[in-house]
Parts: sequence; C-alpha cells; structure tokens
Amino acid sequence: MMNILGIESSCDETAASVVRDGREVLSNVISSQIAIHTEYGGVVPEIASRKHIENINPVIKQALADAKNPDGSSMTWDDIDAIAVTYGPGLVGALLVGVAEAKAIAYALGKPLVPVNHITGHVSANYLEHPDLKPPFMCLIVSGGHTNLVVVKDYGEYEFIGRTRDDAAGEAFDKVARSVGLGYPGGPKIDKEARCGNPLAITFPKAKVDGAPYDFSFSGLKSAVLNYQNHAQMMGETINRADLVASFQKAVVDVLVEHTMEAAKEYGYKQVALAGGVAANSALRQSMKEACEISSIDLCYPSPVFCTDNAAMIASAGYYEYMKGNTASWDLNAVPGLQL
Ligand code: KG4
Ligand code: ZN
Repeated sequence: MMNILGIESSCDETAASVVRDGREVLSNVISSQIAIHTEYGGVVPEIASRKHIENINPVIKQALADAKNPDGSSMTWDDIDAIAVTYGPGLVGALLVGVAEAKAIAYALGKPLVPVNHITGHVSANYLEHPDLKPPFMCLIVSGGHTNLVVVKDYGEYEFIGRTRDDAAGEAFDKVARSVGLGYPGGPKIDKEARCGNPLAITFPKAKVDGAPYDFSFSGLKSAVLNYQNHAQMMGETINRADLVASFQKAVVDVLVEHTMEAAKEYGYKQVALAGGVAANSALRQSMKEACEISSIDLCYPSPVFCTDNAAMIASAGYYEYMKGNTASWDLNAVPGLQL
C-alpha cells in the first residue's frame, strides 16, 4: 500500500491530494484563484505565483488532515510514502512554488520526490474513478494549453495521433468567451450559456488539416466567430449570444468527436478516454457518449472536478512514475515548456 502526496501549482489552482496506490483518492484540496484573476480577464502570472506561496502550506496541511488511515485517524507525514509534484508545463513562477515545496518536504522527510508532467496528470485523472481502466487506450487530451489525440501505450507513454496546429481547444473557448463578453474563465461560461442556445443556428467551418486527418485547427473557427460579430455590428443587427456560443461549441465538439472516433476505429481501440479541462464540457461528454455507444466503444471521462487542474491526478501519475523507478534528484527544476 502506497500513499502519495501530490502537489499541483502550474497555473491558477493551488492543490494537494493524497492518493493510495494511484487509484484511491483519500483527500483532494483545491484552492482556486479564479475570483482574483477574473478582475483582470485572465491569469496574471505574477499574481498566481504570489497566491501559490500564500496558499500552499495551508492546502497541504488540509490534504493531510482530510486523508484518513484505515483506523479513521488523520494522516501524518509518517503515513506518506512519496511526494509527487508537477514540474511542467505551466507558468514558471507558479511551477517553482510547488517544486520548491515538494523538494523541501521530500528532503526534510527523507522520502522520494517524483517529477510529474502535468499533461500525464490529466490523462491519469481517468484512473481515479475507473478502476478497470488500463493502457493501452485512446485518449483525447483537451486543456487550456494542449489538444492532443494519443494512444496511451503504457502508463505515461504515448503515441501521437493528432495535435492542434494553432490554438488549443480550451484557448479557443477562452478567446471566444472574451470576444462575446462572457469573460474569464471562458469554457465553463460558454458551456452554461450554450444550454440556452440553438447549436444549429449558425454553421461554422470545421477545419480540416490537409494530409493530417487527425490534426486540429481552431484559429479559423475563432476568426469566423469574430467575423460574424463584426458583420452583425456593421449591419446594426443584434446577436443572440446563446445561439452564437452554442453554434461555436458544436463546431468544436463535432471535430473533436469525429477525429477521436475515426482514429479509434483506424487504430482498433475499443476504449476511449477524455482528459483535461475541456473534458468537463457537457456537450463534449454527451456527444462523445452517443458516438461511442453507436460504435460499441467504452468511454470514460473524469468527474468535472478531476478534469480541471487538481493534485489527485498528479498523485496518481506520480504513483506510476514511481513504480517505473522515476524519481527526481535535488536539482529538479520547473520546465515551463515540458512536452509529453
Ligand atoms: O486542464 P485545465 O484546467 O488547465 C490546463 O492545463 O490548461 O484546462 C483549462 C481549460 C480552460 O481553457 C477552460 O476554459 C477549459 O479548460 N474548460 C472548459 C470547461 N471547463 C474548463 N471548456 C469547456 N467547457 C467547460 N465546461
Ligand atoms: Zn491542466
């Protein structure tokens, strides 16, 4: 039995969690900075770093207190076997807070320090609630900074099938939300507003990338939304915002679902998983579910709280890294541009 403390601070969430054997969440504490960054219309890196340094000790303390031993007592450091931390990709100042904290704890306790790639963390979020899920499977990773269609060949090992040529899916949601006046954070606001709109009201282009059937491109769609708005403004027409964002969301979701289903069929996978903040999108979850049912493909996705940034996914990924013998030395640094 192995209890891992996960620490996550790559963007605007300070999070800590204890996970047993990579699968069982014993505690999950997330301190969100959304309220502060909303005033600025997006994440301000300098502010994020300062908030992490304020929040990180209380968040970790809470994660230990919430995690219970089999006898019902709260965990202490003696019950923790290793410390896993996100060391990239993300905002460098934000990452450094988590990395320095994890190093200090691991050094003081003489326990292993496990470096975790944030994106591998997002994929691993699926292991927390689906005990039978094991590689290999096909995974659509859709976050604020990444859009990748991959085969998860083994824990933390990937074969790339498709990637975005420009904006990430979450980035497109955030930019469109800003341009229609919904503000930050864009994804959840569009998701909510779209429920009152007609997704068939406006037909937006579905970008195909020549010669790369599984690659994505969202910048043309984003421009099409802006053009639609500008045109309406010039003509003095009022826009139905709910219809506009519902139609935009449908265009994103359709292409994500089509690519994933085609790839799963071509590569012969009967198990598909979703990962990353955009995997919390209700239209994507619904549409992917329907498509998978038709093709008799098993679909899994994390609960919304494990789709967006959290530390339980880092502790889960850390468990499998540790099992492979991947531990960090004391010179571990933040790597803002870390690749999968
Ligand atoms: O994975 P994540 O929390 O952070 C990164 O690693 O990037 O993803 C954040 C992204 C943001 O772009 C946010 O707008 C998007 O995920 N997002 C959503 C939803 N919830 C979060 N996009 C669409 N629908 C949602 N419900
Ligand atoms: Zn993330």
